[in-house]
Amino acid sequence: MTPGAGILLPAAAWGVEFTSRGFALSSRPIVFPQDTLWTRVTIAGGFGYFIASNDRLLVWREVAERMFTAGAERAEYAEEARGAYRVATFIDGRLDGALFIGPAEAAPSWDALRALFESEKIEDHQRRLLLSGKSGEGLAATGPIVCACFGVGLAAIRAALTSGVGSVEEIGKTLRAGTNCGSCLPELKRIVADERTAQPV
Ligand code: FES
Repeated sequence: MTPGAGILLPAAAWGVEFTSRGFALSSRPIVFPQDTLWTRVTIAGGFGYFIASNDRLLVWREVAERMFTAGAERAEYAEEARGAYRVATFIDGRLDGALFIGPAEAAPSWDALRALFESEKIEDHQRRLLLSGKSGEGLAATGPIVCACFGVGLAAIRAALTSGVGSVEEIGKTLRAGTNCGSCLPELKRIVADERTAQPV
């Protein structure tokens, strides 16, 4: 198959089913693996790509290595079992590039990431939320983000605890918080402990 050439074509036009879909944002043109279906649009500061692929997550890690500026700060999330991979890089306080790919039936939306890519600077709370694919709008409703991998805020965790969820494991089952990299687990444990202390005896 010949890769796409910058024309917006629906995947169905190729008569091929793809297991993964996603997008990439980059200040420079990207070279994709053979057999990737891609389309490109010009956006402020660079290019946006829509991607459809049957490649495995490992292949997309290699694409990310090639497409991003060496030495740039990086945030990364990978869920091997679902074939979900999200990576973003930052230079001088701005979003320099992003690659989001995941199961075709739950393709990530690029709206929030594109807006951040086109911004001169992104705020800390936006950066923490970025890998969840959210922009940071509505953060007041979710509260500060506790689990960056899934964009889960303190308000959602407290609401779960008051509605009967009783442990870090149950928070993971209900909200997915804490079930990827695990770096939020100490904070989750502290929140659960605080909630127990606050319960009337
Ligand atoms: S921050 Fe990675 S699982 Fe919560």
